[in-house]
Amino acid sequence: MNFKEVVSQRRAVNFFDPGKGVPDSLINEMIELAAKAPSSFNLQPWSLIIVKDPEDKQRLRKLAWDQPKVSEAPVVFIVLGDRDAWKQGHFFVEKNFKEMVNSGIMNENQHDWFLNACKTIYGGNDEKKQAFACKNAGFFAMALMFAGKSLGLDTHPMDGFDHDGVRNAFNIADNFWIPLLLAVGHFDAQKTLQPPKWRKTVDEIVIRTY
Ligand SMILES: Cc1cc2nc3c(=O)[nH]c(=O)nc-3n(C[C@H](O)[C@H](O)[C@H](O)COP(=O)(O)O)c2cc1C
Repeated sequence: MNFKEVVSQRRAVNFFDPGKGVPDSLINEMIELAAKAPSSFNLQPWSLIIVKDPEDKQRLRKLAWDQPKVSEAPVVFIVLGDRDAWKQGHFFVEKNFKEMVNSGIMNENQHDWFLNACKTIYGGNDEKKQAFACKNAGFFAMALMFAGKSLGLDTHPMDGFDHDGVRNAFNIADNFWIPLLLAVGHFDAQKTLQPPKWRKTVDEIVIRTY
């Protein structure tokens, strides 16, 4: 499947075949592919909670407007955006800096400069922290959907859920925001997929050209 086909054929699939599981190896491949998504300073402020257990999926479904796909899909990702993944001392921030030093992009002396730059751009206020977490986790989520499609999997993103309810029920730390849930599996071939939805035209998207 080439990229045009992946993009054109990906759909938010409402009905999953509950009898068709997805092996862990395929889920891992999907995540590895999606992890190639770009991120601010390569900070990769995203994480996943994987929900496969039927009882846990039912718990999640109750907190997600009782959407049947949450329990029918074999796998549901709780996608997380880390609002703190720009801070000095954060494990992945320091790991990222070390990796940049190891690859010659930065040198040890630039540590404070790098951390200050991160703080200024991403940590200035709550709005910046939220934007940092959500935009990067959003790119990752999009990459998950394309990666899934390329591997023969269907997906469905959802923001119809009780954010604080999911946070409490699944013990999610305060530094994380939950931009979306993502159901993963195989479209139920017994059901009819809705026709493709309308999209804005180029002229509707571009509001100004200089
Ligand atoms: C962030 C996000 C949240 C969404 N939340 C829901 C949801 O809670 N329930 C639902 O049925 N669809 C949800 N959708 C699916 C959209 O309705 C769907 O992607 C859109 O109508 C376009 O259809 P397509 O993805 O099949 O092209 C969501 C999509 C996105 C990107």
